Amino acid sequence: MTEFLGSLPSRRAFLRFLAGSPLLSLAGLHACSNGNSAGSRRKGVSASGLDLDQIISSSDEAINVFDLEAVARNKLPPAHFGYIATGVDDDATLRANREGFQRIYLRPRRLVDVTHIDMGIELFGESWDSPIVISPAGSQRAFHPQGELAVANAARTRGHLQILSTVTTTSVEDVVEARGAPVWYQLYPTSKWTVTQALLRRAEAAGCPVVVLTVDLPAGSNRETLERYIKTDTRDCSSCHEAGFRGAVRRKPMFDGLDLTGITQLFAPGLTWDFVRRLKDNTNMRVVVKGIVTREDAARCVRSGADGIIVSNHGGRAEESGRATIQSLPEVLEAVAGRVPVLVDGGFRRGNDVLKAMALGASAICIGRPYLWGLGAFGQEGVERVLDIMRAELELAMKLAGTPTLSDIGPGLVART
Ligand code: FNR
Repeated sequence: MTEFLGSLPSRRAFLRFLAGSPLLSLAGLHACSNGNSAGSRRKGVSASGLDLDQIISSSDEAINVFDLEAVARNKLPPAHFGYIATGVDDDATLRANREGFQRIYLRPRRLVDVTHIDMGIELFGESWDSPIVISPAGSQRAFHPQGELAVANAARTRGHLQILSTVTTTSVEDVVEARGAPVWYQLYPTSKWTVTQALLRRAEAAGCPVVVLTVDLPAGSNRETLERYIKTDTRDCSSCHEAGFRGAVRRKPMFDGLDLTGITQLFAPGLTWDFVRRLKDNTNMRVVVKGIVTREDAARCVRSGADGIIVSNHGGRAEESGRATIQSLPEVLEAVAGRVPVLVDGGFRRGNDVLKAMALGASAICIGRPYLWGLGAFGQEGVERVLDIMRAELELAMKLAGTPTLSDIGPGLVART
């Protein structure tokens, strides 16, 4: 594949370049100015098969998070919705993340006083009202003009922890201000240490207490579903999507003013475990490693000084392992043995999914696509609705399971089919 086309012979060639580019795979889409006007309209269909175009016109009508997916699919330009929807190769890992939850069943207990439910957690000395965390996702102004600010506002009004992507389309300073509290900062380090350092200094100065190093995309990824969506997009995208690394990060404020000479990717394929140690030695933020799925790497994280782990396969957007993160979680937890917090993401859509992960021993769970659906559907209100739905579902699930607090949720609550 031609990595950076100097001149773009045709729109089709340009879109093909975008779809295949590892840079795009990492950086995501840019914030096109018309991020909320679809190039072609599609029918929204809910998970239950309902045609939602007629019935969902405001966020409070959504019964579950899939209702917001249908609205987002209908509202967003195909390429932008495709960017959210895509997995890699056959999307098998994407599907596995959901299917994994069905292999675990619940063993609820009866006659427990569940009048009051407390789903509060503590991470690195900070308390949160719920274990549902907002995963980092790039380019959020491609889904709504308010982008990361809408998400930060929703995180503030609903009291959730937000993790901000390196390829945010809003500066970390503005997001922290909107959130009204520190966010965690996700790091794609690039291959240039001076750039890594500049990103770290900026996140530190903005008050971020934690840097999340994403390690699961060392070399791009094969996002065929995205490519297919792009083919159906009739807009001219060339004013927003420019070739080359510099073009790709032109609308990403974290790279403003940095010397990007020599950088071709957001991640360096040559990075090894020494880098985790180096990060630890060069920042006062806690270092959490995101993208771990094996006991070997979990042990290595702890040995390298990581303060926490996020079990993740990038929402099925990195390697096509075919394995759900909920299946990877137990071996990671076993290797870590309580030494650092272990979070997990991938396919969390229901309160019951959260309950299962907490029962296995996760410290918290993160959601990606659901809040992006909410954002694309109704902006801040849509994100708030997703958070409300998932919290309400978790609360009900905890009541029905006879577990009024998260500490009541233990391994006895779950078993495998
Ligand atoms: C992501 N993800 C991601 N991860 C990351 O570390 N940095 C990033 O910039 C992005 N960008 C991104 C964009 C989009 C559109 C998606 C869907 C995902 C991965 C994300 O943090 C998380 O791991 C998954 O989204 C979790 O899976 P679910 O909840 O989407 O199934």
